[in-house]
Amino acid sequence: MSKTLAGKRVVITGGTTGIGLATAQLFHAQGARVLVTGRNEKTLAEARESLPEGIEIFKSEAGSLSDIDALVARTKELFGGVDVLFLNAGVARFAPLELVPESEWDDMVGINAKGPYFTVQKFLPLLAEGASIVVNTSVVDVKGFPSTSVYSASKAALRSLVRTFAAELAPRGIRVNAVSPGPITTPIYGKLGLDAATAADFAKNTMESNPMKRFGTPDEVAQAALFLASPASSYTTGLDLPVDGGASQL
Ligand SMILES: NC(=O)c1ccc[n+]([C@@H]2O[C@H](COP(=O)([O-])OP(=O)(O)OC[C@H]3O[C@@H](n4cnc5c(N)ncnc54)[C@H](OP(=O)(O)O)[C@@H]3O)[C@@H](O)[C@H]2O)c1
Repeated sequence: MSKTLAGKRVVITGGTTGIGLATAQLFHAQGARVLVTGRNEKTLAEARESLPEGIEIFKSEAGSLSDIDALVARTKELFGGVDVLFLNAGVARFAPLELVPESEWDDMVGINAKGPYFTVQKFLPLLAEGASIVVNTSVVDVKGFPSTSVYSASKAALRSLVRTFAAELAPRGIRVNAVSPGPITTPIYGKLGLDAATAADFAKNTMESNPMKRFGTPDEVAQAALFLASPASSYTTGLDLPVDGGASQL
């Protein structure tokens, strides 16, 4: 049987753990040539161990314009062009409004919204006609949970960019869509800045309030990204596709 992404050239930001890692594995299994990025030496090294041979792993800070330039240069050298760009790298830290310093705004918005904006801008010359850009937003882009103000604002900005980029790139035959995960079991839950008891409470409440009463898996998001990356979604652009057990819709 032919593979969905046979010969496609794919760049995945934040492909060393969680959803990005699962997507890199799935896209590689579907015949794609894959480059993934990350920034942390430990997770970069672990990804080198766990990802199949042939996947390129490139250190690149998602919010740094000079690192994005270096990523574009490496991609050009390796692939010549790009058929699928999965902008997945992101960070989440939660705190009540009164405790958020300016540096948190700058860092989270810089990585989650500014980074993808300039990554798309700088990849424009490399994007093939008919290319697909997939962005990883979040259920928070349409919901209002306490203590998530900066993260939610950064993801809502990203959701808006999906619409404007889709309109701007349609004449080149480039589609732009998002996967919008609800709670997915990944290492991100250890990085929220919550103490152990609050984190456990948060996980329990999240599960109980979810219509499907469970967390999703990274592979469930990867499968949605595969749909948006592939010709199966050839008449779909500007979409934010929920993969959230119904959390945003029910
Ligand atoms: N898990 C969920 O419940 C959930 C729900 C909604 C949306 N999302 C979104 O899904 C995406 C992936 O998250 P995940 O849950 O898979 O979390 P994760 O396991 O923490 O993965 C994040 C990935 O992004 C990379 N990354 C983070 N900041 C980076 C930066 N500044 N520069 C380069 N790479 C960076 C990480 O690499 P390093 O280890 O090197 O930092 C890692 O590869 C994020 O955008 C997140 O907001 C997740």
